[in-house]
Amino acid sequence: MQLPTADTTPQNPASESAGQEMDLSVRVRQIDPTLDLIEEIKRLKHELNAVILAHYYQDDEIQDLADHVGDSLALAQAAANTDADVIVFCGVHFMAETAKIINPDKPVLLPDLDAGCSLADRCPADLYGEWLKQYPNHTVINYINSSAAVKALSDIIVTSSNAVDIVKQLPADQPIVFGPDRHLGRWVEGQTGKKMVLWNGFCIVHEQFNARRLAALKAEYPAAQIIAHPECEEAVLAQADFIGSTLALLKYVQTHTEQKQFIVATEVGILHQMKRARPDAEFLCSPPNSGCNCASCPYMRLNTIEKLYLCMRDRHPEIVMDEATRLRALLPVQRMLEMSQHLAPVQQKGD
Ligand code: 13P
Ligand code: SF4
Repeated sequence: MQLPTADTTPQNPASESAGQEMDLSVRVRQIDPTLDLIEEIKRLKHELNAVILAHYYQDDEIQDLADHVGDSLALAQAAANTDADVIVFCGVHFMAETAKIINPDKPVLLPDLDAGCSLADRCPADLYGEWLKQYPNHTVINYINSSAAVKALSDIIVTSSNAVDIVKQLPADQPIVFGPDRHLGRWVEGQTGKKMVLWNGFCIVHEQFNARRLAALKAEYPAAQIIAHPECEEAVLAQADFIGSTLALLKYVQTHTEQKQFIVATEVGILHQMKRARPDAEFLCSPPNSGCNCASCPYMRLNTIEKLYLCMRDRHPEIVMDEATRLRALLPVQRMLEMSQHLAPVQQKGD
């Protein structure tokens, strides 16, 4: 079967329309430049009784405003446990969708609906469903970086925090299909010793780290430890001293206080919390294949403080999804939350 080809252009099938995007940029330009956006967001948060959830890949000022900053598992757990009336999700579309799957009665606001994800966008549900037909009797495990429609085709959702643990909980002889990230899938195979059928997807941000340049940087800084997200290529992961989700990487930096230099192979937004946790340490970005020396997710960065303000002021854009898809997607998300209860408690800001 022909899989979608690589494309580094941010795109999101969930986008309402190009007109909506234009409307958003016009509304951003119309914001009074003298307005104190931070104070306005705090005021609106109180007025809406809202909780702001932010991923580690968001801009520093958004992380600083959030009630919870976390990786995708911690944020799904925070969404499952909140008693706020409104969820404001500063992350990408699939993360906000997951919050909506769990909270059908709460409005879930996303500052920019076009904040997609290369993994989710390159795994359309119709193609994925066709592909799955080749593998009856397999347990379908999907990375949370997938659309609600793909989640609806799954048995269990996983994140980079819990994928290894959840796969280990399945019977040894259970055949498994894993999508959509081939690198995470391969890493999970290595950690669990279980062979899985992998969908051929990848993250444009993590796949651009260059193994040869990384080796050269390590030669220049021999005392530095390499820490990497499992979405990176095998040749990058092979050089890593530690591999884990964004939260696991942050915890590693927090606890390895004897280490003073780290080469970080994941999105650069995580450095905000790492530098805060370890002001005594030096953080170097893992070198990319070409271009600037930082790895910034173009989708995550569509969310800005201006758009955060607007979505709270106008209560729009909001995540909408049909109820049949939501109900089908809820089962594998609930299974994930149940199977990883013992792993990661909800992260509070500053944890
Ligand atoms: P985490 O599960 O570590 O938050 O990763 C999500 C993600 O999109 C990584 O690119
Ligand atoms: Fe998706 Fe990669 Fe961006 Fe994470 S960093 S949201 S996997 S495109």
